[in-house]
Amino acid sequence: MIELRDVTRDDGRRLFLWRREPEVDRWNYQSPPSDYGMHQAWLDDFMADPDRAGWIIEENGRPCGFLMLKGVADSQQRAQWGWYIGEAAARGRGAGRAAQALGLDRAFFDFGLQKVWSEVLADNEAALKAQAAAGFRREGYLRRHAFKDGQFRDVVLLAILVEEWRARRETVLGQLEASGLIRKPPA
Ligand SMILES: CC(C)(COP(=O)(O)OP(=O)(O)OC[C@H]1O[C@@H](n2cnc3c(N)ncnc32)[C@H](O)[C@@H]1OP(=O)(O)O)[C@@H](O)C(=O)NCCC(=O)NCCS
Repeated sequence: MIELRDVTRDDGRRLFLWRREPEVDRWNYQSPPSDYGMHQAWLDDFMADPDRAGWIIEENGRPCGFLMLKGVADSQQRAQWGWYIGEAAARGRGAGRAAQALGLDRAFFDFGLQKVWSEVLADNEAALKAQAAAGFRREGYLRRHAFKDGQFRDVVLLAILVEEWRARRETVLGQLEASGLIRKPPA
């Protein structure tokens, strides 16, 4: 069963380790933190920032990943999506898709956003597939937009609007519930 809970300062160590994990780092523009103190300062800033929200993804009560939104307090009513499954053993088994559905509910219904968008490295097949399954649509393609691991990389811009999620959520949540991945939140 996949659930989201608010991130806390005590999650610092696991976030530090996850963020340095090669498969997580591989798909992130930025280099991972090398210094734990700097990482913890980042987490403190993150938690104090009313414009950012973050959740730990849990699988049967065990933390396995992180999901965040940047822009939740912005007058533009759109936020940028960021996420990863930090525990290697939890990847590819539906945790990402389940967390994504729960996160979109939070974004649109708790924060009242109109739009959620994300930037994905163009060869990140898992993220592109997972986001398409929730209804994210491609809004752009940015050539040589990121420099990562000594190479310029293309980036896909994805986004989903509130009415697109509303139209899709029953089906997506129903499938996730039928697979035993979530307990369906109320409409
Ligand atoms: C991207 C990510 C969050 C997806 O979560 P996940 O739990 O692994 O994915 P799911 O099991 O929910 O599967 C989602 C889709 O991706 C596909 N998929 C999963 N792992 C894959 C892989 N390694 N290669 C290709 N497709 C993959 C699944 O088949 C599924 O597609 P389907 O619905 O058509 O069957 C996770 O793989 C991850 O954290 N990856 C590393 C960091 C990262 O890429 N973060 C996102 C940056 S934008």
